[in-house]
Amino acid sequence: MTFCRDILPAVCLSPRTGSLIVVDGSSPDDTTAGSLNRRSEGRRRHHLETVAVIAGRPEHPGEPLNPPMVPASNYRMDPLIGTTDDEPGHDHTSPAPSSSQRLYSRGDNNPTWEALETAMAALEGGGASLAFSSGMAAISAVLSGLDSGATVLAPADCYQGVAGLLEEGSRRHGWIIHWIPTDDTDSWLEAMAKPPDLAWLESPSNPMMLVADLPTICRRAIDLGVFTAVDGTFATPLLQQPLDLGATVSIHSATKFIGGHSDLLGGLVTTRRPDVAERLRRHQTLHGATMGTLEAFLALRGLRTLPLRLERAQASALELARRLQQHDKVTAVHYPGLTSDPGHERARRTMGGPGAMISFQTVGDGPGLDRAMSKLSLIVTATSLGGVETTAERRARLAGQEHIPQTLIRLSVGCEHVDDLWHDLTEMLDPLADIV
Ligand SMILES: Cc1ncc(COP(=O)(O)O)c(C=O)c1O
Repeated sequence: MTFCRDILPAVCLSPRTGSLIVVDGSSPDDTTAGSLNRRSEGRRRHHLETVAVIAGRPEHPGEPLNPPMVPASNYRMDPLIGTTDDEPGHDHTSPAPSSSQRLYSRGDNNPTWEALETAMAALEGGGASLAFSSGMAAISAVLSGLDSGATVLAPADCYQGVAGLLEEGSRRHGWIIHWIPTDDTDSWLEAMAKPPDLAWLESPSNPMMLVADLPTICRRAIDLGVFTAVDGTFATPLLQQPLDLGATVSIHSATKFIGGHSDLLGGLVTTRRPDVAERLRRHQTLHGATMGTLEAFLALRGLRTLPLRLERAQASALELARRLQQHDKVTAVHYPGLTSDPGHERARRTMGGPGAMISFQTVGDGPGLDRAMSKLSLIVTATSLGGVETTAERRARLAGQEHIPQTLIRLSVGCEHVDDLWHDLTEMLDPLADIV
């Protein structure tokens, strides 16, 4: 299986600060290839796997190797700062201040989540990253930029929380939502003929695993000046780089693969547009949508091992998808790593790998499948995803997900041995027709 590694940038980090300097011919503040080459002189270029390990670390002798958890809301203030015109105090609603101006975490950031934001920005190829209290808090912050009557293009099968927020916006603020199948590129381009205020994309989509043609849609959006947001939670920043493809913001629920241990809630938004970063920071401050200190610490720790976890989980996912395809109780497998999958070619062109999420459908009906799932002894029946443990869920059980095929199981493949996972799946699948 060869997926496109070319879209994954070689990232250049400052040896001193650990922050991103150059990415694949583009940078937040310096976009000419010539100057980028100059800026990269004398610096090492790293793969994303390395960036995940090193970005956002303390850098001075005597400091701990890893950013410590700083459970602080309040900071010692210099009474002289802000008293003269040339030393203005920090306005709590503008972008993060220098540490000497830090007064209060909600407005001035906290060193622990700053380290996570630095690491995430480096992984996303530059710009500013903001840590929120959950994926939905991050998504709300992005959507809060929409005025009354705004027009939004959104995937017909997007994550139900986003669909809920958009429907609420439609009721309360008169937003006009056009729902478009994730993988129907022509419809996305047609709908942009009258430029919307926002094109919201999610790829691969949850739970149908449809792959959007991000390069084509983002290119058209750039031409038309359309704000594009890409939720890449399933892909992780290692497998998909929406900002390099032209997206305005890239969003991840850190609750999932980034955290990786099912023990935190968090969300991350990254953008290379300073005006967008400033608006998001202002929203975060005024709405109090900041990440907890413990959560930021855990999310950064999770990020360090994301490449290893993902490599293992993705290899197992591919193997399981192939075996599921051969199983006589399985009627469909949705996984872009399979050559037969409609999204395979597109994913091969635009992603670094197909990821660790699989959806599959079985014979029988919903209640029969629920009974069969109770036979799982290793795989955990649970709604969330992206942890080291493999989880499975029959999505149509959830309120609001009745449109999903009744016998569709979404599997988040973790780090257990693939043969043990397969054994568990066969214990569920083999007797299926008998217990329906
Ligand atoms: C694709 C996707 N985006 C966003 C979210 C929301 O993230 P959170 O639960 O961290 O708020 C989820 C949650 O399942 C998701 O699957």
